[in-house]
Amino acid sequence: MTTSQFITFEGIEGVGKTTQIERLASYLMSVEIECYRTREPGGTKLADDIRAILANPSYQISDRAELLLMFASRTSHVDQVIIPQLERGAWVLCDRFVDASYAYQGAGRGFGEDVISYFEQLTCQNLIPDTTFLLDMPLSMMFDRIRQRSQGKDRIEREPEAFFQSVRTAYLSRAQKNPKQYVLIDASASIDEVTDQIISAIKVRYEI
Ligand code: TMP
Repeated sequence: MTTSQFITFEGIEGVGKTTQIERLASYLMSVEIECYRTREPGGTKLADDIRAILANPSYQISDRAELLLMFASRTSHVDQVIIPQLERGAWVLCDRFVDASYAYQGAGRGFGEDVISYFEQLTCQNLIPDTTFLLDMPLSMMFDRIRQRSQGKDRIEREPEAFFQSVRTAYLSRAQKNPKQYVLIDASASIDEVTDQIISAIKVRYEI
């Protein structure tokens, strides 16, 4: 049996991470690999409460406060959930991790890589994802999907196109620089095709 793995899913809004994580979890269970699904911001009571604050458009949250809240939630998630689950041998499937801070806060908000790297070192206990699936699609598709949804836009989704352009570019650049960690997925394909891309990559990477 392959030892525990930390697998993360990243991308701009509306790329279908939740569905694909569910499908990968079902596949892993079918080959008798125990997995634990979680997400950021979130995953502990504290981090879930911070998530609700971060999403709420009625709060005035400065970029600095947003950065600190993201990392405050991540600290409790890493310490109380991710590391303990990996230590007990589960595969952890996480919807976003520190790469999202590089893309959204580092690039989108303009803090830059060094600031994010400082907070990463402070909070992540040297934890780096074994595999990161970057679900990528054009911004026009992202905006179409957000429009089609029944619920309104959360606080970050209200940002203009230029913000998401920076986020997407940062993700693509990280993927290009770290091919060992990242697998680039064409999320503009059908849901089934996206699942095939992900499961094929898992089979190749882990020989399962
Ligand atoms: P989600 O709705 O895809 O789960 O993501 C929550 C939002 O939080 C999404 O707009 C991306 C944002 N986010 C950051 O800005 N920085 C982070 O570090 C994380 C984890 C999420």
